[in-house]
Amino acid sequence: MSAISAPDFQFVAGLVRQRSAIDLQPGKEYLVESRLAPVAREVGERDLHALVGRLRRGDETLAAAVIDALTTNETSWFRDGHPFQAFSRRLLPEVAETSTTRQITVWSAACSSGQEAYSLAMLLLDWLPMHPGFSARIIGTDISATMVERARSGRYSQLEINRGLPAANLVKFFEQHGREWVLKPHVRAMTRFERGNLAAPAYGVPTADIVFLRNVLIYFDIATKRTVLSHVRRVLRPGGFLVLGGAESTLSLDAAFRRMELDKAVVFQHQGGPA
Ligand SMILES: C[S@@+](CC[C@H](N)C(=O)[O-])C[C@H]1O[C@@H](n2cnc3c(N)ncnc32)[C@H](O)[C@@H]1O
Repeated sequence: MSAISAPDFQFVAGLVRQRSAIDLQPGKEYLVESRLAPVAREVGERDLHALVGRLRRGDETLAAAVIDALTTNETSWFRDGHPFQAFSRRLLPEVAETSTTRQITVWSAACSSGQEAYSLAMLLLDWLPMHPGFSARIIGTDISATMVERARSGRYSQLEINRGLPAANLVKFFEQHGREWVLKPHVRAMTRFERGNLAAPAYGVPTADIVFLRNVLIYFDIATKRTVLSHVRRVLRPGGFLVLGGAESTLSLDAAFRRMELDKAVVFQHQGGPA
């Protein structure tokens, strides 16, 4: 694998920042090299310098593939457990009580290949029969077109299924198609997946009662984290809940959120006020 020169790294970091807000600081050269080497091979370029040359000449298709390759899409079912328990036991009762529409809307922001959104759909499908008159929908968004396509397909390998999906959920919510597992139509019907950049206002995402924004703020600098949270605030209704990753917080970033500990989960409630 070829090493990336300092000017080429700066160019790629600038492009990635402009398109996705992901902050690639010096020191991340190894990441760029290891993620872009396969892209170079795929498009028939001999090394990274040639690949970056093509980016400099404005190859838009290649730019999209490069952004895609530089996102980290690590995810799993019911990731970290506690936030999902809090969702069913604490957040759903609270938002149901204050809902004026009786339609629960959840936004899985930075949804990767969909495991988070579908985990929430499974919990909602267990909750809805006990709450007649309510309906629910989940909107998943991600900057990676490849991830959005994968989430829409609702198809997973055995290896992916093994990462956190309880056996009872596999039996209840999936069908086996050859070597893959596919979510049943009623689970998929509850979800919608769109491409979206969190650094830009979330057009097309309806007002949400609950937002899962997990394990993505870590990739942004402080100014971008603030911008992203302000965009989330415009979508999340006052009184609604924001759920972040274990290493993330709104503290010192956005005063409109109140930190709350619910059992073993930490959530952030939107206090209202100007967006
Ligand atoms: C580590 S995954 C987290 C997936 C899931 N939320 C979870 O916690 O398991 C981070 C995701 O954020 C997405 N992402 C990165 N920058 C983004 C941006 N500016 N707008 C939207 N999504 C972004 C990546 O494509 C990736 O799928």
